[in-house]
This record gives sequence, C-alpha cells and structure tokens, in this order.
Amino acid sequence: MALRDLVRPLEGIELFDPVGDWLGDTVHRLVGNGAVKSALSGTWLGHSLHPVLTDLPIGFLSSATVLDLFGGEDAAGAADALTVLGLVSVAPTAAAGASDWADTSGADRRLGLIHALANAGSSVLFAAALVSRRGRYRRTAHLFSIAGIGVLSASGYIGGHLVYGRGMGVDHTVFDDPPTEWTRVARDDDVAADTPLLVSASGYGVLLYRHAGVVHAIANRCTHAGGPLNEGQVDDELCVTCPWHGSQFRLADGAVTRGPATAPQPAFTVRIRDANVEVRRREA
Ligand code: FES
Repeated sequence: MALRDLVRPLEGIELFDPVGDWLGDTVHRLVGNGAVKSALSGTWLGHSLHPVLTDLPIGFLSSATVLDLFGGEDAAGAADALTVLGLVSVAPTAAAGASDWADTSGADRRLGLIHALANAGSSVLFAAALVSRRGRYRRTAHLFSIAGIGVLSASGYIGGHLVYGRGMGVDHTVFDDPPTEWTRVARDDDVAADTPLLVSASGYGVLLYRHAGVVHAIANRCTHAGGPLNEGQVDDELCVTCPWHGSQFRLADGAVTRGPATAPQPAFTVRIRDANVEVRRREA
C-alpha cells in the first residue's frame, strides 16, 4: 500500500467542515483581497510563496534534531539556536499557508486543515523541546524534538499530496494546449463592445473583450484555480477580476495585476479576417 492510500480517506472526513468554513472565512476577512493577499500568495514571486517558506522551519528544526542525535554536548548551543530559528520561521510560513488554504474548498480544505493542525502540533512539541533545553533536561528535549520532526514529516507529506496529488497552487492552464495557428472563434459582429464573451478556439476556452475598437483575447480559465473569467468584471484599466478569489489579469497580455494568482493567463493575438475574429496563442 502506498502512503498516498492512507491520505486519501482523510479527504472525505466532513466532520470538521463547519470549523474549516468558519476559519476560512476568518482568514479571508483578516487577509483581505489586496496587497497583503498578493504578498502572501507569492504573486510578486511568480510562484506560490508557502512551499518556498516551508524550507525554513523544516530545515532549521530537522537540523536541530540531527545535532541533538549526533552532535554531542558541543553542538547543544547550535541545536538550541536552530530550534528558536525554526519556531520563529513558522509564523510567516503559516501565514502564507493559511492565505492559500482560505481559497480552497471540499477535500483540499479538509486536508489543508489537517496539515495545519499537524504543523501546530509539531510547533508545540518543538516549543516543549525548547523549554526542556532551557531547563537543562536535554534528554527530554531530544524526545520532544524527535516527536516533533515525526509529526512535521507527516504533515509535509500531506502538504506534498495537496500540491502534487491534487494540484493546489499549480497553474491551472499549464497542461492546456491552445491553438498556435490562426483559428476562427467568432463573427466580428458577435463581439459587442465592453462585454466579456466566451468563445471556443478548437475546444479551448478564450475570453474575448472589445474596447475602443480593439479586441483582446486571453485564456478564460483562471490560472489560479480554474475560475471562469468571462463571469468576472472588467475595470477601467482593462483588467478582468476572477469571480472566484479576486485575481486580476490585464486583458492586453494576460499579466497578473493582483493575486492570489501567481501565473499569467495565456494570451492570444487577434486579427479580423473576412468579418471573422481569429486568434492564435501568443508566445509566452
Ligand atoms: S480561480 Fe482563484 S482567483 Fe481565479
């Protein structure tokens, strides 16, 4: 049996859904939908921030545990310092993770909640190890650290499953194959001014938007989690807001102008031929 088979049943545990929904709403209220959300999401980084930050507590705390086991008395001071650094780095890592988690639902939200609870448990164990270190109960501290790294590893596995098994935080257009040859998608007359229009380019959903005589075209499926951009609002700057979690994309080139999205929308070049609108994928 693969470890993955042990995680799967956790996806269906609905018992804590009300708590998860309440917590998710609370995080949404605290983080908002502006610069803080973009910063925590990693929009500025071009990739999700949380997985990057997890290297800090995992690295510090696992190093402290290794020093405890093999470093002897001489390494005690370094192990103590690494434990402090690990616990301090939990705060920004948890903040970025909570922000990502608040945008989930269903199985992802359940697994994310278990992941967060396990991380909190691991932090409590390492905090207990730190207190024991200060009291010179080093053997007890070692046991707390070993237990903490065990819980942290299990939690890390669930986090990995969320990303690699369920696609959380992955660009939702990455496996798409939009047409790179000119493809007819609509009659020119069908594209009304200042009105989002969903069309199909050989089966690929494209959002058309005509403004001041120019027709813009980007992928309709939001890179963040697959939301339908044709149902979003377009502002005066010609950016469309995703109706699911509020990411904004520039219609001219698909660039992200506000998170939580971190990847731009695939964009298309548009031409009008024989009263037809044609598009083709623009080079990334
Ligand atoms: S699906 Fe999350 S912002 Fe679009």
